[in-house]
Amino acid sequence: MRVLITGGAGFIGSHLAEALSSLHEVAILDNLSTGRRENVPPDIPLYEIDLRDKEALQAHFAKHEYDVVFHLAAQADVRTSVDSPIEDAHTNVIGTLHLLDALKNKPTWLIFSSTGGAIYGEKSTFPLSESECPFPESPYGIAKLAGELYIHAFSTAYQVPYTILRLANVYGPRQNPHGEAGVIAIFSYRLLTGQPVYIYGDGEQTRDFIYVEDVVSAFLSVLGMPQRTYGQVFNVGTGVQTSVNQLYRLIAAAVGVEQEPTYLPPKVGELRRNALSAAKLHAATGWQPRYTLTEGVQRTVESFRKSLQLLNP
Ligand SMILES: NC(=O)c1ccc[n+]([C@@H]2O[C@H](COP(=O)([O-])OP(=O)(O)OC[C@H]3O[C@@H](n4cnc5c(N)ncnc54)[C@H](O)[C@@H]3O)[C@@H](O)[C@H]2O)c1
Repeated sequence: MRVLITGGAGFIGSHLAEALSSLHEVAILDNLSTGRRENVPPDIPLYEIDLRDKEALQAHFAKHEYDVVFHLAAQADVRTSVDSPIEDAHTNVIGTLHLLDALKNKPTWLIFSSTGGAIYGEKSTFPLSESECPFPESPYGIAKLAGELYIHAFSTAYQVPYTILRLANVYGPRQNPHGEAGVIAIFSYRLLTGQPVYIYGDGEQTRDFIYVEDVVSAFLSVLGMPQRTYGQVFNVGTGVQTSVNQLYRLIAAAVGVEQEPTYLPPKVGELRRNALSAAKLHAATGWQPRYTLTEGVQRTVESFRKSLQLLNP
C-alpha cells in the first residue's frame, strides 16, 4: 500500500514509519517544527510541507496518490496550546481542514491520531470508554475534538473514509525530553543527567501511560481490519492509572538514583485523573498492549542512557 504519515519525523510518527516501511511504500510529510530529520529512516521520502500551507498541500496531493494517510502532524503540547491557543488552532484545526480538503472525494483512508488524555475532560469513573461525552478543557483537546468532528463531516459530505484513535499518554525512546510534555522523557533525561526533577502539585494526579510500540501495534491492527474500523473512534490505552509519584519512583529505580523530587504549585487546568478502556479496539481487532509500565520505562531509560553515552563517550 502507498502510505503517507503526516508528522512522521516526530516521536510517534517515526516509530510508525519504521514499522510500516518494511511492508508498505511509506512517505512522510512534516514541517520539522518539533520533528527531526534524523528520526526518519534514510530510505523514506520526507516532504517538508507545513499543514498550514493550503496550496502546498493541494499541490502535493495533486502529484501523489496514497491508499492511507496517517494524520499525526500536530502541535502536540497541551501547555503550549494554553499559552498560544491561536497558533495551536492554526495547525490542529485549520491544518487538519486543509488536509481534509485535499483528500475530498478521494478513496484515501484517513487514520487520525486524536487524544484520549485531553478530549474527555475531568471525569469520575475509570477507565473511560468512547461513549463518555467529550468535554475538553485545554485548547489542544478542543482542537482535537474539532478535528474529529470535521473528519466525520467530510466523511459524510465527501466520502472520506476514516478511523480515529484517541491515544492515552504515550512514552518511549525519541520522545523530546526538553519540552513541557512527555513526563517520562523529562524525568528520565533529568535523572540521568543529575538535574533536579520538578513535580507540579502533590504528584497524586494519575495518567494512563502507554509504550510507543503498543501504540504502533494499535495503528497496525486498525490497518489490518478496515471493514471493522472504518468510521469508528477507538481509545488506545492500558486502562491503568499511575500517579506521577509512582512514576517518579519507577524511573528513579530504573536510572539507579535515590534523589527526591521537588514539588511546585500545580499547573492551572491540569486533569486530576485519567485512564482509557481499549475494550472496543480489542473487540474489533484483537489489539492489546504488550508492555508493562516497568518494562516500558526500563526500555525508555536505557535508550536515553545510550544516546547520552553517544553524545558524551
Ligand atoms: N505523545 C502523546 O502522548 C500523545 C497522546 C495523544 C495524542 N498524541 C498525538 O499523536 C501525534 C504525534 O504526537 P507526538 O507525541 O509524536 O508529537 P511530536 O511533536 O513528536 O510530533 C508531531 C509532528 O508533527 C510535525 N508538525 C507540527 N506542526 C506541523 C505543521 N503545521 N505541518 C506539518 N507538520 C507539523 C512536527 O514537526 C512533528 O514531527 C499528534 O497528533 C499528537 O497530538 C500524542
